[in-house]
Amino acid sequence: MPMIELLFIPGSLRQASSSRATVRALIKRVEDSATCVTADPGLLPHYNADILDDPAVKAFIDQVAHANGLVFVTPEYNYSVPGVLKNAIDWASRPAMKSVFKDKHCFVMSVSGGALGGVRAQGHLKYSLNGMLAKVFGCPEIVVPMANDKVENGFLTDERILTFAEEQLRAFMTALSESVPDIR
Ligand SMILES: Cc1cc2nc3c(=O)[nH]c(=O)nc-3n(C[C@H](O)[C@H](O)[C@H](O)COP(=O)(O)O)c2cc1C
Repeated sequence: MPMIELLFIPGSLRQASSSRATVRALIKRVEDSATCVTADPGLLPHYNADILDDPAVKAFIDQVAHANGLVFVTPEYNYSVPGVLKNAIDWASRPAMKSVFKDKHCFVMSVSGGALGGVRAQGHLKYSLNGMLAKVFGCPEIVVPMANDKVENGFLTDERILTFAEEQLRAFMTALSESVPDIR
């Protein structure tokens, strides 16, 4: 029986990113139970409706379409979602209300260098996803405050937050497997 496919979408491009470190640590915890793929929003050009045949755009939209669930780990930039992540979302959001996001199951968490863990960006991201008719998983907000202090060798090290995030992510995966026939 095929496994659930999760597409992880980090909202930061930098090498030492705490978002990417969080994605890596989460994948390590759930890869026994799901096929985990990581998207790279940095490969996409700036959104331009005149660009109709960009291979990176097509590849990203195909990744979103193919995944059973999307896992966003976004940092907070100026109280909102980083432009690079919003750009990726905008690309995959067309045609409006009928895009690959329609009815797509989404799991959202956030990181930040500050004390609030990116909770404002997380709220903005959920609002945008709802606007595209995606299905945002309802769970307590998962935030990683002071995230840059918690990265070692490319992995988030905060066991308490990771355990909580894993619990919520596994609940998301269970909900996904119940909604997709013939999958585990
Ligand atoms: C342009 C910019 C804006 C930022 N704005 C915020 C902010 O509004 N709130 C916050 O908590 N941190 C803010 N930060 C700090 C980020 O949370 C921090 O750099 C974080 O590590 C970025 O995620 P990353 O580690 O995945 O790259 C900002 C950082 C940048 C570069």
